Amino acid sequence: MSGKILLVGNWKMHLNVSQASLLVQRLHERTRTHRNLEIVLAPTMLTLQPLSLQIDRRKFRLAAQNAYPKDEGPFTGEVSFTMLRDLVHYAIVGHSERRKFFHDDLPMVRDKVKAAVRNEITPILCVGETQHERREGLTRRVLHDQVTTALQNLTAREVMEVVVAYEPVWAISTFQGEYARPDDVAECMRYIRHQITQLYGEHVAQAVRVIYGGSVDGSTVRGYLELPECDGALVGHESINPYHFAAIIDAAYRMQVSQAHEA
Ligand code: 13P
Repeated sequence: MSGKILLVGNWKMHLNVSQASLLVQRLHERTRTHRNLEIVLAPTMLTLQPLSLQIDRRKFRLAAQNAYPKDEGPFTGEVSFTMLRDLVHYAIVGHSERRKFFHDDLPMVRDKVKAAVRNEITPILCVGETQHERREGLTRRVLHDQVTTALQNLTAREVMEVVVAYEPVWAISTFQGEYARPDDVAECMRYIRHQITQLYGEHVAQAVRVIYGGSVDGSTVRGYLELPECDGALVGHESINPYHFAAIIDAAYRMQVSQAHEA
């Protein structure tokens, strides 16, 4: 862990504009005293603009859940990273739901990562193996292919800014939602950093933030955040309930305070 703990709430296709507004209000009330954490909200595209006017920017940052890699053109129904550049700090790219349901393949994820960086938006690159791939012993190969392809067109300096979210597909509540043991998560995170070291060197790999996602809740988050390899969490289901997300933020904050006392 270097720097602030990063906690990202991926609301997926939940919450309309007024529900989102209420959630932020409640979350703000419940996390007034929680400092020195980086809390990022990823609402639907429709909600980004109104939330940008509502949020306390000292407390929350915004992320897009997706965008299209071309800057503009005849692409009906899409929104580009260029259009989001002044609105969001981050964009989630390569989420397993997008890879599975919308066929975002390796080149598409690579192009989205590049487009995000080109528009000064930090990509949160999601990588992770399916249950089948895990059983077949393919985890490392999958992580290797997803990481190396996605970063292919970036300079070393650009890679340093990227956040990688290790989200084993089998641990995400959308799919099997199994509990991922922190030991196993740590091993995969080390492997991800190892890949980046091979490509860009130790200095770059240490700068990259690696976070965990997959059925994280208030009782499990600390187990992941305590890993020296882990810089934060990407939260799905538990982030659309202000009390549950606040419990996660609280657990992270308490861990940070207790570590500061020990140091
Ligand atoms: P859950 O926390 O619902 O398992 O979702 C994780 C996720 O997909 C975050 O991007």
